[in-house]
Amino acid sequence: MTKFSARDRLRLIGGGAAAAALHACGGGTPSAPAALPDSKTPLPISPPPTFTPAVPATGILKNTWRNNFDVGVAVEAYQFSPQSLSRKRILDQFNSITAEYTLKAAFIAPQEGVYNFEFADQLWDAAQAGGLKLRGHALLWHEATPAWMLQGSPAQIRTKLETYVTDVVTHFRGRITDWDVCNEVITDDDWANSPYRDTQWLQAVGGPEYISWAFEAARAADPDARLFLSDYSTELPGKRARLITVAQDLLDMDVPLDGIGHQMHLRTTSSIPDALTAIDDVDGMFAGLVNQVTELDISVYTDPGSCYETGTNCLPDVGNPMPADIARQQAQMYRDFFNGLALRPSVDSVTVWGLSDGDSWLNTNPTVRYNHPLLFDRDFMPKRAFYAITDPGFDI
Ligand code: GLA
Repeated sequence: MTKFSARDRLRLIGGGAAAAALHACGGGTPSAPAALPDSKTPLPISPPPTFTPAVPATGILKNTWRNNFDVGVAVEAYQFSPQSLSRKRILDQFNSITAEYTLKAAFIAPQEGVYNFEFADQLWDAAQAGGLKLRGHALLWHEATPAWMLQGSPAQIRTKLETYVTDVVTHFRGRITDWDVCNEVITDDDWANSPYRDTQWLQAVGGPEYISWAFEAARAADPDARLFLSDYSTELPGKRARLITVAQDLLDMDVPLDGIGHQMHLRTTSSIPDALTAIDDVDGMFAGLVNQVTELDISVYTDPGSCYETGTNCLPDVGNPMPADIARQQAQMYRDFFNGLALRPSVDSVTVWGLSDGDSWLNTNPTVRYNHPLLFDRDFMPKRAFYAITDPGFDI
């Protein structure tokens, strides 16, 4: 994943202090001039507005953005257990779901030719019953590739990949209409000679042609499905430029690419204008490509690279519940991002990567710690971030 600089870390700390300062105010009243503080009297600090979460209005999240884009959430089948609050929130507030794990190749086909569609089918049934879409994520991802798929010569690997993609896309033909075909095939290395990530796929095949094999097989299996190239850190200029190069390469070869999936694993130090630039740059280069935000979350930590590499110097746990100043900063970011995305017609789906803060992968990655990156708290109650994007009058 991304490495973070000491500067980013400082911005996190500075950002929190700045947000707290914004909410500090004081002064007397016109009718009581004698009470006005002089320069030696500390200004009284108002307590921050209290925040009490309430059950969200029916359908308010998806309905707020209905004319702009679908609002999706990454889930698993167990979250649809009858009577559960998770089921209620998913069906009520979202109109799209993504399988967090159960549509990945290592899960679907741990052995060659043996398909485990049980949980993915359950997700489809749950989505279908509630009138939600199911996004397909992801046909090819180096971190979820079963070992058998990469064994043999490049020609044999090609056959295995094409067979897998054909079988899975055919299974969901007419049901899953958007597929992340290749996930994270672009390098993070700003100095690399090639934009392609050096993975076991690249090594086994000897080049990036496995990407076009996957897209072409998916198109052949379901000509109506839209096919996406997805990756993280497209909010960063270097990664974004490489993504555009790869998309251009694919289009130059007439590979059937319909859209870009921007994961958007952001942090409270991320720049929302930069994140929106990712959409604008794709729009500027490729008229007609769809943009989707596929894995949105806003972590409350910006750790140094050593935390990711060796587990050292990770930022201390902010605890639970999340500190109010961070909650406000995050809510403002969600609001700015959603408002900005709504101005960009090429964006037709925005998915958050998990339902409640307690469900997030960021509680264990890069280290075990409370994180609060999503729209619902650990009790499935809406956070400030939720109100920020569903009520324009909500005072963050
Ligand atoms: C990447 C993948 C997702 C998911 C997250 C971590 O972003 O694309 O499918 O595995 O990592 O949860």
